[in-house]
Amino acid sequence: MDCMGKFAVVHNGIIENYRELKDSLIERGHKFVSETDTEVVSHLIEEEYRGDTCRALLNAVKKLRGSYALAIISQDEPDKVFAARMESPMVLGIGESQLFLASDVTAFLKYTRKAIFLEDGDVAVLSRDGIDLMDFEGKKVFRDVKAIDWDIEAAEKAGYEHFMLKEIHEQPQSLKAAIAGRLDEFKGTVTLKEVSLTEDEMRNIDRIVIIACGTSYHAGMMGRYVMEELVGLPVSVEIGSEFRYSHARLDDKTLIIAISQSGETADTLAAVKEAVRRGVHVIAVTNVVGSTLSREATDTVYMMSGPEIGVAATKTFTAQVVVMYMLAIMLGCARNTISADKASKVIRALKSLPQKAQQVLELDADIREVASRFRDSASFFLVGRHLNYPVALEGALKIKEISYVMSEGFAAGELKHGPLALLANGTPVIAIATDSELYDKVVSNIREVKARDATVIAIASESNKTIDQVSDIVIRVPDACEYISPIMSSIVLQLFAYYIALGRGCPIDRPRNLAKSVTVE
Ligand code: F6R
Repeated sequence: MDCMGKFAVVHNGIIENYRELKDSLIERGHKFVSETDTEVVSHLIEEEYRGDTCRALLNAVKKLRGSYALAIISQDEPDKVFAARMESPMVLGIGESQLFLASDVTAFLKYTRKAIFLEDGDVAVLSRDGIDLMDFEGKKVFRDVKAIDWDIEAAEKAGYEHFMLKEIHEQPQSLKAAIAGRLDEFKGTVTLKEVSLTEDEMRNIDRIVIIACGTSYHAGMMGRYVMEELVGLPVSVEIGSEFRYSHARLDDKTLIIAISQSGETADTLAAVKEAVRRGVHVIAVTNVVGSTLSREATDTVYMMSGPEIGVAATKTFTAQVVVMYMLAIMLGCARNTISADKASKVIRALKSLPQKAQQVLELDADIREVASRFRDSASFFLVGRHLNYPVALEGALKIKEISYVMSEGFAAGELKHGPLALLANGTPVIAIATDSELYDKVVSNIREVKARDATVIAIASESNKTIDQVSDIVIRVPDACEYISPIMSSIVLQLFAYYIALGRGCPIDRPRNLAKSVTVE
């Protein structure tokens, strides 16, 4: 609410420039009662108000940067709801004698199937007389009323056959949400206001321990590589169920980062509780606000992925990786272990990621076609090096979870130490061979595999002209720096796993024997 309690605002999204706005509003005498970015909206409207809420809203939105779906009510016009949309979903429902406003049709599908999807830059006024739609200049706009023919379940899946596929395709938005308001490319800085460590405290840390299970553990492995490079500290990644029984040294110079999508994984929680009891600073990385982990940890950084229903983690994995990169930059800046140039380079790469993820998703049909050729394979090998090693592990986990096919990920350099013995004529080996410092080494490893007559499916960079000489099939992803191409490759593998499982008729969203959150030891 504003100072007078006249306007109440509901907001989905992030106001990126809220700090500047808040500071200047405070200078002009506004009193804030929360730490939220949302509160600036009500105060801005209050400031612009001259007896016409719609006009005040139109003036206020011009000052906002970021993503928002806003709904506003005013004491002076109690029979109206005002709304505005920018880069955050907003849909209006038209019932018999009601109007609805929501971020998703599923919220009102029980009452009406007629909906108007607002577009970026739309403002709507809902009243007894109907809906007035306009742009940010107040000029009338027209939007079609769409008839929604999905049943509730299909609507929740936005027309996708499975939640998993929907969630894979949501990654451009979830990645955008993960970075929104947190990156400053020009200063080369990351702001994670949830982290309460002072710069001095960050400088005092002498080792980082990352704790997680399953997919989150793979995100932790990626975080480790990046932290070792950018933060210059020893970093270990520990499986929750192992760490809770270890005798690891923990003290006030240790920083623990606990990653858990659900925030309810018993093994991760047990390790965190013990660490907090011993006085260690714990940063939780989770997607679920109010989860047990967020309550136990010292600080919580949210992934902002929105709900993930499919048991197999997809969009939360890529968001976890992005949060780990951001933590690495933040710690590196505080400790002076990362140059401003390097920080800006990684930040630029992160900012380009939503768009790159979109380009990868456009390969959906190609990946489906490749997967259809391997639907009946009895096993898969996945190999990669450095950041692509955890990507291989994660790809293998996705395949085994939802299609029940034996699949294993390996550090490509490890093949010759044993796993090569398993290769037979035609065994599919997925090699992650995007551009990186270790590219040539990966090619050598692919040659070792080819020499055993395995079938190589390479994931390579778009501009790579030579990989075809050592591979049977190539899936090309857009050229990108070595920090974000692994995230793109993991999206390819999510789709590959999905289509293998689909081809085999598996219950993709609810694989046998698995649960979305593992709350038992
Ligand atoms: C894999 C998967 C699991 C979870 C693991 C940890 O797709 O979903 O491996 O990653 O159970 O769960 P969280 O992240 O909730 O702690």
